Amino acid sequence: MSTPTLQQIASHAKTYGFLYNSSEIYQGLQAVYDYGPYGVQLKKNLQDFWWYSMTQLHHNIVGLDAAILMAPAVWEASGHLAGFHDWMVDNKDSKKRYRVDLLLEEQAAKWKLAGQEQEAIQLSKKMDDFLSKEDGDGLTSLLQESHVVCPISKTAHWTKVKRFNLMFRTEIGSVANEATKIYLRPETAQGIFVNFLNVQKSTRLQIPFGIAQIGKAFRNEIIARQFIFRMREFEQMEMQFFVPPEEEQAWFDHWVAKRKAWYSTLGIPKEAIRIHPHTQLAHYAKAAVDITYRYPFGYKEVEGIHARGCFDLQSHANHSGKQIKYFDTSRNASYIPHVVETSVGTDRLLLLLLCHAFTQTTKDNTPRTYLKFPPPLAPTSAAILPLFKKEPLIKQAQAILKQLQPHFRVAYDQSQSIGKRYVRQDLIGTPYCITVDYETLEDQQVTIRERDTMTQQRMPIGRLKDYLKEQLHLERLISN
Ligand code: GAP
Repeated sequence: MSTPTLQQIASHAKTYGFLYNSSEIYQGLQAVYDYGPYGVQLKKNLQDFWWYSMTQLHHNIVGLDAAILMAPAVWEASGHLAGFHDWMVDNKDSKKRYRVDLLLEEQAAKWKLAGQEQEAIQLSKKMDDFLSKEDGDGLTSLLQESHVVCPISKTAHWTKVKRFNLMFRTEIGSVANEATKIYLRPETAQGIFVNFLNVQKSTRLQIPFGIAQIGKAFRNEIIARQFIFRMREFEQMEMQFFVPPEEEQAWFDHWVAKRKAWYSTLGIPKEAIRIHPHTQLAHYAKAAVDITYRYPFGYKEVEGIHARGCFDLQSHANHSGKQIKYFDTSRNASYIPHVVETSVGTDRLLLLLLCHAFTQTTKDNTPRTYLKFPPPLAPTSAAILPLFKKEPLIKQAQAILKQLQPHFRVAYDQSQSIGKRYVRQDLIGTPYCITVDYETLEDQQVTIRERDTMTQQRMPIGRLKDYLKEQLHLERLISN
C-alpha cells in the first residue's frame, strides 16, 4: 500500500463531492475552496467533535461566537496592524512573488541534502536573526549571497524584500467619505479576548477557565498552495485558557500533552504526529509549539499551542482604557490572567483526516479504494440498499430509511448492481451498508456490511437503531 500523493487526495476530494475550487466556472479563485455535500458534512462532524471535546468534556470551558468584523482598534491593540506580515520578494524575470523565509528554507534544505550541513545551519540562523530584527535589507542581502534562484526563471534577479501585511481590508458604512477602514479578522482569538470580561461576569466562571470558538479567519497569503493546507479564507477552532500568571507554564505543558493525545482519538497513529517547538515566536507568544502531522508533503503544522502571557488582555486594557482584571478570591488578589491558547485550523484538520483515511488495497486481485473515516465522523453513517430494484424490497428498504433517518445520517441507493453501490459508499467513506434482500421479507433481518473489513453479518431490523447508536456516538472516539 503506497502513501497517497496530495494530487490524488485533491482529485478524489473533487470527484466525490468533498471540495471544489471556488468560482471554478470563472477559472477559480486561488487558495479559496468550496465544500461539497460530503465535505461540508465531514467538516461539521469534525467541528462538532472538537466542540464536544472542549465544551462538553470540560465543565470550565464555554463557547462563544464573536463577529468576524471588529472595531479597527482591536487590530492595533493585538499588534496585527504593525506586526502581522510576511516578507515577500518578486523575481524580475518571472514576475512571480515569493515568501522570503520559504525561499531561504528551501535553499537550506537543498544544501543539507547536498552534505553542506554547516552552510545550511548558518543560513537558517541568519534568517531567524533578520526575521526577529525585522531587517528587510538583511534578508535582501541574504537572498543574494545565498545564490537563491527563482524556481521558474532560474535567475537571481530579485527586487528588494518588502513587508506584506496579511490582513484583508474593507470599509464599513455606506457614505464614502465617512466610511471606516476595517479588516476581516486574521484569527478568531481576538473576539475571545475582547469578550473576556463579558463572559467571566455573565457565567461567574472562576479561573482557570477557557473560552472556545469556531469561525472563519482570513489571510491574504502571499503564496497559497498545497490544496486546502494554506488558504486565504479558512476556519479556526480556538480555545483560550485563562490562568493565574505563575501557572502559565504548567498549563501550557498540560494543553500540549492533551491536544497531542486528541489526535489518537481520531485514529491517527502516534508516529504521524510530532511536536515542533518554535524558535521564531509570534509577536504575542512567550512559548509556542506546533502539532505537526505527516502530510504527503512532510510534517507540517495542523495546530498551534501558544503561551500568550497577558499580552492581549493588557494591550486591550491599554488601548480601550477599560480595566481588564480578575479578582481571584482564592488568592485574595486581583491580576490580569495569562493565556494558553490552542488553535487548530479546521481545513488542515480535514485534510489530515482525508490523508489518513485514503486507503488503496487489493482484494482478490481487484484494486480497492476507500476512506476509512472513524465511523462517528463519516459524512454518511449508513447506506440502505435494496438488493434488487423490486417493489417489495424497495418498500422494506424505505421503511428502514424512515425509521433510521431521524437518528442518523443515512443514504438510500437503489441504482445499479449491489457491488457498484458498495464501491460508491466506500469512496465517500460510509462505514455501514445495510442490504435488504428477499430473506428480509421473511425473517425481518438485514445484512450489515462493514466498510474496512468488508465482513457481513445478519441483524434483526429491530436491533439496527441500537447497533448504530453504539457505533456512532462521539463518546466512542474518546473511549477507544
Ligand atoms: N490565534 C493564533 C493563530 O492564529 P496560527 O498558528 O497563525 O495561530 C493557527 O494559526 C492555525 O490556523 C494553524 O495551526 C493552522 O491550522 C490554521 N491556519 C493558519 N493559517 C492558515 C491558512 N492560511 N490556511 C489554512 N489554515 C490556516
